[in-house]
Amino acid sequence: MISLHGLTKVFPGGVRALDAIDLTVADGEFFALLGPSGCGKTTLLRTIAGLEIPTSGNIRINEADVTRLPPGRRDVAMVFQDYAIFPHMDVTDNIAYPLRIRKVPRAERVRKAAEVARRLSLADLLHRRPAQLSGGQQQRVALARAIACHPAAFLFDEPLSNLDARLRLEARTFLKRLQRELAVTTVFVTHDQAEALALADRIAVMSAGRMVQIGTPAEIFQRPSTTFVASFIGSTPMNLLPGTSTRGALHVAGAVRAAPAGLGEGDEIVYGVRPEYMGLSETERQDGIPGTVAVLENLGTGVLVTLESGDHLVQAVVPEGSEPALGVRRWAVPARSLVYRDGALLA
Ligand SMILES: Nc1ncnc2c1ncn2[C@@H]1O[C@H](COP(=O)(O)OP(=O)(O)OP(=O)(O)O)[C@@H](O)[C@H]1O
Ligand SMILES: [Mg+2]
Repeated sequence: MISLHGLTKVFPGGVRALDAIDLTVADGEFFALLGPSGCGKTTLLRTIAGLEIPTSGNIRINEADVTRLPPGRRDVAMVFQDYAIFPHMDVTDNIAYPLRIRKVPRAERVRKAAEVARRLSLADLLHRRPAQLSGGQQQRVALARAIACHPAAFLFDEPLSNLDARLRLEARTFLKRLQRELAVTTVFVTHDQAEALALADRIAVMSAGRMVQIGTPAEIFQRPSTTFVASFIGSTPMNLLPGTSTRGALHVAGAVRAAPAGLGEGDEIVYGVRPEYMGLSETERQDGIPGTVAVLENLGTGVLVTLESGDHLVQAVVPEGSEPALGVRRWAVPARSLVYRDGALLA
């Protein structure tokens, strides 16, 4: 278990990279950190690892307060964003390095390194030096080195970012299986929301040193708590349309929809609908957003249809083969929607 209490990091110069973070990652949990560049993800991992000293707050790993312990005594394995591996050692020795530190006999180290290497498709590269490897191969060596021992926690900072799309998917599946087998508490940083949704038990979305929302992938995907999270999650971004409430109804881009409880007269809102939950009607409907088909994008099994509706663009995903022609008129009808006021989700 990892728990953080009021964890704050202010860098010299005044950047508040972490702002009073409270978080508990359960034993064996796979926890993903998502957020835009500069929001504090790497700083958070480095602080848990002991590579940065927090300005205030504390860190516990398995009940022990490690806030003042040096990195070597925290029993965590970290894979860095820039995956530093030892240039003078071959792949076997790099992977086996943490085992050497723990005085595991040589034959056992080599056997273990070969086994982990095989599972990360590195078996043919065991005798190469880092300079003879591609960036993606080096990154897998760094990952293998972290995995070779059995620490109290894994801290992964974008460990798959240098892999090509197919290898990335393979490594992702491998990592999830391995983490389940070893049941090592894991904090995984990624900027790839699909990766976070696929891997994590829970996800935290960060912004400017704070956790904006923490939840299961389903919760984060279905009910983003703010428009920031809504716009960040989903492979096709959520439609976020401005609207107003009058007399119990919502008026959104030419459509009239039922208003949720708690809205006053003339409240400004943002109406959120995922393109996956937007249907298209061929006939006029009062509850549909009128528009003209402006763009069609093939997504493989479906087609992303973009309607031009006055000043707004409205997107819907329809099954492949059922997409309308360019230039025709359609009414976009939400099947599931969320309403935000002042950027926050209305319950
Ligand atoms: N050593 C440092 N000194 C001063 N400011 C720093 C230092 N390291 C990071 N920062 C600042 O702290 C903030 C958080 O940086 P951090 O590296 O944690 O972001 P990140 O979320 O990992 O971003 P990315 O997705 O680009 O890796 C940024 O504004 C960054 O410029
Ligand atoms: Mg980073």
